[in-house]
Amino acid sequence: MAPAELEERDFAHLRHQMVEFQLRRRGIADPKVLRAMECVPRHRFVSERVRWAAYDDEPLPIGLGQTISQPYIVARMTELLQIGEASRVLEIGTGSGYQAAVLAEIAREVWSIERHVELAVGAREILRGLGYETVHVVSGDGTLGLPEHAPYDGILVAAAAPVVPAPLPEQLADGGRLVIPVGDAFSQLLRIVIRTGGTFRERDLLGVRFVPLVGEKGYPSEEGR
Ligand SMILES: C[S@@+](CC[C@H](N)C(=O)[O-])C[C@H]1O[C@@H](n2cnc3c(N)ncnc32)[C@H](O)[C@@H]1O
Repeated sequence: MAPAELEERDFAHLRHQMVEFQLRRRGIADPKVLRAMECVPRHRFVSERVRWAAYDDEPLPIGLGQTISQPYIVARMTELLQIGEASRVLEIGTGSGYQAAVLAEIAREVWSIERHVELAVGAREILRGLGYETVHVVSGDGTLGLPEHAPYDGILVAAAAPVVPAPLPEQLADGGRLVIPVGDAFSQLLRIVIRTGGTFRERDLLGVRFVPLVGEKGYPSEEGR
């Protein structure tokens, strides 16, 4: 057997262990999410240098001071969105493209915004190489959302904001859900916002730690975190 083949088999084994021990045993129960996490080759979204840690229970560096989130957090945020095969989803903070691939395993269409052009280009290449044709990566400021393709059944923000950016709840479809870490550079709570008609209900869930959502007025600069 070619070494590359052996490696893929090893990674598949590590991925399965990750799903069983880090996700299922910690309460991730949605079969769609568990299947997506079992399918997406996380090791293809990180550099050679950290590849063998791809299925560890931690975030990993992806360059430019950014990270790919811990697998449990990716799964938990995806589960909270309650999306299905007809859903259209917006992600803010493409990073490596991994979370977008997980969303694409479940949803019909995924839009993803990344402010670092270099990361957006890299993610687009990896996603295309893996055949994720329903993911559209855009470079820009995600604090504004992506109104031209709204409304979305789910919006997932993968960076920490001091407050919920005002344009985002407005871009939810009726019944849609927004999941976002809200807080300062040191501690944040994962907030869920659910839209019903013109009403928005909010609930804070678990404590998390994300890199900051960087934007125009009122958001931290990358240097100031
Ligand atoms: C924790 S990383 C996201 C990880 C990513 N979801 C993945 O699967 O690899 C947060 C990302 O948000 C990006 N980001 C921060 N502020 C942003 C903004 N205003 N608009 C778009 N992307 C932003 C960062 O550059 C970084 O790549």
